Amino acid sequence: MALRTIRVMGDDILRKKCREVKEVTQRIETLIDDMFETMYESNGVGLAAPQVGVLKRIMVIDVGEEPYLFINPVIVDSAGEQTGDEGCLSLPGKSGVVTRPDFVKVRAYDENMEEFELEAEGLLARAICHECDHLEGILYVDKVEGELENVEYDEE
Ligand code: NI
Repeated sequence: MALRTIRVMGDDILRKKCREVKEVTQRIETLIDDMFETMYESNGVGLAAPQVGVLKRIMVIDVGEEPYLFINPVIVDSAGEQTGDEGCLSLPGKSGVVTRPDFVKVRAYDENMEEFELEAEGLLARAICHECDHLEGILYVDKVEGELENVEYDEE
């Protein structure tokens, strides 16, 4: 496994639409491992492939419950509303208020290309929406309500 460089806002690749994954090759397996490692190393709760420069529909999420991998995810149902702070590893040091559904049902494929569905609420639902947006070239700044804030980091 290896850490990958996270692309930051201003990089054109973050604005491109990602392509579907047809098959999980060795190369994609390595990409997925690297995405998890890069996300954890950066203390993020989610990471989408374009953020490491790969235009494929792959995203990883861990909001502190368990690691989730989504290949070719589609949000098939959503309900409710939540308004809260959001951040993104591609906008280091910033956060902003975004309204998202409070519940989503997502359909995706796992590392064996087996289809699954997951129902999520709260922070996990927010993370799924945020990462799915990345696959379309959408950043949370496109949806932010008000100004971006600067986030103070604790040096570890
Ligand atoms: Ni993000």
